Amino acid sequence: MDAIKTLDSALPAATIILYLAHQPESALSLSPENDFPVYSTSEATPAPYTAAVVYLASVMPGPRSPDRLLQSIPRLQKNIPWRHQWPILLLHAGVYDTLDSQQDFLTRLRDSSREQDLTPEAIEDLVHRIEFVPTQHELPAGIPVDGVGDTPIWSVEWPAYHHLCSFFSYKIFNHPRIKDLTYYLRLDDDSYVREPACFDPFEYMHVHNKSYAFRDSPPDMGWVTEGMWPFVSNYAQRHSDVESTLEKNGFEWPSNRFWPLGFGEGVNFPSYETNFDLVKVPRFRTPEMQDFFRDLASDPKRFYWYRWGDAPLRFAEVYMFLDVPQETHRMCELPYSHKDRPFDDCECVPL
Ligand SMILES: *[C@@H]1O[C@H](CO)[C@@H](O)[C@H](O)[C@H]1NC(C)=O
Repeated sequence: MDAIKTLDSALPAATIILYLAHQPESALSLSPENDFPVYSTSEATPAPYTAAVVYLASVMPGPRSPDRLLQSIPRLQKNIPWRHQWPILLLHAGVYDTLDSQQDFLTRLRDSSREQDLTPEAIEDLVHRIEFVPTQHELPAGIPVDGVGDTPIWSVEWPAYHHLCSFFSYKIFNHPRIKDLTYYLRLDDDSYVREPACFDPFEYMHVHNKSYAFRDSPPDMGWVTEGMWPFVSNYAQRHSDVESTLEKNGFEWPSNRFWPLGFGEGVNFPSYETNFDLVKVPRFRTPEMQDFFRDLASDPKRFYWYRWGDAPLRFAEVYMFLDVPQETHRMCELPYSHKDRPFDDCECVPL
């Protein structure tokens, strides 16, 4: 367990984002050409799935620096042999509401792409993939605006980081622009594909019939997962299918699971590092998963007081509802860095 590394990984994302995802469909895109997924620019037959790359470009209304995003996006274009030029969704809470702000961003994107030696054709392909998607985040009922005054466990980046955690934990699966996709790949603005990869990650998911791919899975610290062990345990006790799926997947509980007090207190919770989060959306929209999300959302203090993160919750969701050996993949073939920390890679075998 590397507490410092995990804390560090939480902080940068905190500088970014948050939202509530309840925009009317009509407000989703301001760029008329990009209303629909691009199926393929080079082939006559459409892909048998749809997909998008997702970045949370801003969570709170007001400006936010796009500097890191402008470094990450060109590397995606340059280092992945895209089979299909899927949209790159920039979810934002108002910063790209005007055409001027969008044009300004795209001008800067062309500049940063040239600095990274993309060809003029690659730059135009990239610019056409960008889609600005307004997405608001609101405090749930019962959570006061001055939450910091009431000292939630984590008051850094209040409430943006808390919005982010609840958004990626479950709200994203009902986001109108995302819910009908087959796959999305979420990256943080300080994530990037470091070097050339040998396949398109969406194509990999399709060819290998995978439902979830991650890049690393370190544990999350016990002090930001307070109550998560009993929450998952109680849910599993009330849902025998979940209990047996967890068991089949080899999910490991802390000791004294059925002791009434203090179960899991302060014990780190396993997690997927969700700065890279590659999801087959329908597998997270099953009635069983939606029931779990309703239960999760029923007490907003989980996100807004105890600062539960989407990383340990994604791990719980996958272990509770998916067939882990069959459906998940550690996509170490993709040379990847987060906050300039290169992850361990493995050999890339072309599809
Ligand atoms: C693909 O995976 C799903 C689970 O997501 C499974 O139900 C299905 O049988 C698999 N299909 C094949 C052809 O293996």
